[in-house]
Amino acid sequence: MANPTKKQKQRSLKGRTILLCITGSIAAYRACDLVRQLRADGANVICLMTEAAKKFVTPLTFHSLSGNPVYADPFSEHEDWSVLHTTLADQASLILIAPATADILARLAGGFASDLITSVILASRATVLIAPAMNDNMFEHPITQENIQKLRKIGYRFVEPIEGDLVCGRIGVGHIADHTAVLEAVRKTLHAG
Ligand SMILES: Cc1cc2nc3c(=O)[nH]c(=O)nc-3n(C[C@H](O)[C@H](O)[C@H](O)COP(=O)(O)O)c2cc1C
Repeated sequence: MANPTKKQKQRSLKGRTILLCITGSIAAYRACDLVRQLRADGANVICLMTEAAKKFVTPLTFHSLSGNPVYADPFSEHEDWSVLHTTLADQASLILIAPATADILARLAGGFASDLITSVILASRATVLIAPAMNDNMFEHPITQENIQKLRKIGYRFVEPIEGDLVCGRIGVGHIADHTAVLEAVRKTLHAG
């Protein structure tokens, strides 16, 4: 078979639904570019936000960029009344958390279903891909590292944070991976299975 053209490669996520989960990191704005790139690749992108994430970027931004409703409250009423977290869980080809805070890693590692994102993840069998973003001390903290190991052990995948200028003024590892690395991980994960 002929090699796929550049255009075909760019539409390689056609037919896939990606739940993009945005948490309360200063890097939340970086998720805007991800939505655009994932859509350019043909994916249907549904954004889920924590309450903290909404302090950084408005749901309206993600609504406009994704062309889909944005979900944050598991108890909200929506069209075609159904249980929101299980409905979203069943639609997912992939769950991408970008950026992922130290707090969401702890909640996931602890098995919590205390907000929409953790509830959806527990209710889904889709692959979970996580791009952490945080201060270097938070990232290197033994508790965060233990949580990451725990999540890796059950098959969650990570796009490693990189060294960079952190918002606290230091240079260290904790900067969210570049969006090309996140997109590459999404493509690899979805095409692998
Ligand atoms: C200005 C500011 C920037 C923050 N950036 C981060 C961050 O990059 N990573 C992180 O883990 N927490 C960060 N936090 C702390 C989280 O917002 C906080 O732990 C929050 O409870 C996370 O909630 P969530 O995981 O439900 O989104 C930041 C807080 C503030 C005020």
